[in-house]
Amino acid sequence: MRTGVERPRRTTLEEFLSNGDPEIAKVYLAIAEGATRLAGELPFQTGMAGGTNSSGDAQATLDVFSNDLFADLLLETGVVGEVASEEMETSRRASGDRDHALSVAMDPLDGSSNITTNSPLGSIFGIWRGRLPQSGRALVSAMFVTYGPQLTLCFNFGRSVCQFVEMRAGPQSGEFVLAAEGIHLPEEPEVYGIGGDRVKWTPRVEEFVRSLEARGLRLRYGGTFIGDYNQVLRRGGIFAYPELQGKPNGKLRVLYESAPVSFLTELAGGSSTTGKGSVLDIHPKALAETAPCYIGSRRLVQEIEERFSTH
Ligand code: F6P
Ligand code: MN
Repeated sequence: MRTGVERPRRTTLEEFLSNGDPEIAKVYLAIAEGATRLAGELPFQTGMAGGTNSSGDAQATLDVFSNDLFADLLLETGVVGEVASEEMETSRRASGDRDHALSVAMDPLDGSSNITTNSPLGSIFGIWRGRLPQSGRALVSAMFVTYGPQLTLCFNFGRSVCQFVEMRAGPQSGEFVLAAEGIHLPEEPEVYGIGGDRVKWTPRVEEFVRSLEARGLRLRYGGTFIGDYNQVLRRGGIFAYPELQGKPNGKLRVLYESAPVSFLTELAGGSSTTGKGSVLDIHPKALAETAPCYIGSRRLVQEIEERFSTH
């Protein structure tokens, strides 16, 4: 089919990364390869593995597959000394003395309860230097993958937040090409998505959400952190997995989920909080430690802190 539209060749991921830190480039390219392979595996693996992960979540076969795939690819780069994952009790380490190498904490398949419904899925990676756990402030880089209608990579290149998309037709088919750079999280809020059962929200969370609704923000919630967050990144607003009654630390894991995403958010001009201060300032003591998180447009995040400081 002819489109009648000129489609100029676009910058590839390899070309783009050749101007930056070579170690980070190796990690990003390993993740890109894993993302393509994982996307190809989606139609084949839709069942449950029968076990649970370190947080007690039921594991899908794709959780196990994605964990092994990314862990192997990352350790094979030769620049990663430690991989910690939501799907493993303890880190996997490269052989030899690698205390100063890069460490990666990952959620290899975010939103796995959405596999059977063909809703968006994600993968999240935080990259540090030295052993884990560390605070989000110490992050060197972060990347997330969206498996939605398009396969995309979103990451920081220095202080710029960029997005690459996998081409599926045309002369660059099979390559990741530049889709956006210098991404800025819009300050004017449009959408919100809040996790957890509404009946378990604390009164102050409930009140905040009512105020968002009163201001005309649109609810957009699919139950995959990365899918729900990515809408906030591109449209402005707020994503939260809040404190819940009986679960004051929420659900999202700091190292694997909320810190890497908060890191990219702050580089994109947005902000994050636990209700008391930036998610990036948490010093997790355990790999799978959780904390409540509220991530998005700066003014809304600041409003949370103000509301929570008074009650
Ligand atoms: O990784 C945990 C997760 O699957 C996130 O992707 C998502 O934001 C959250 O759980 C959804 O939880 P709930 O069903 O409690 O809203
Ligand atoms: Mn997750």
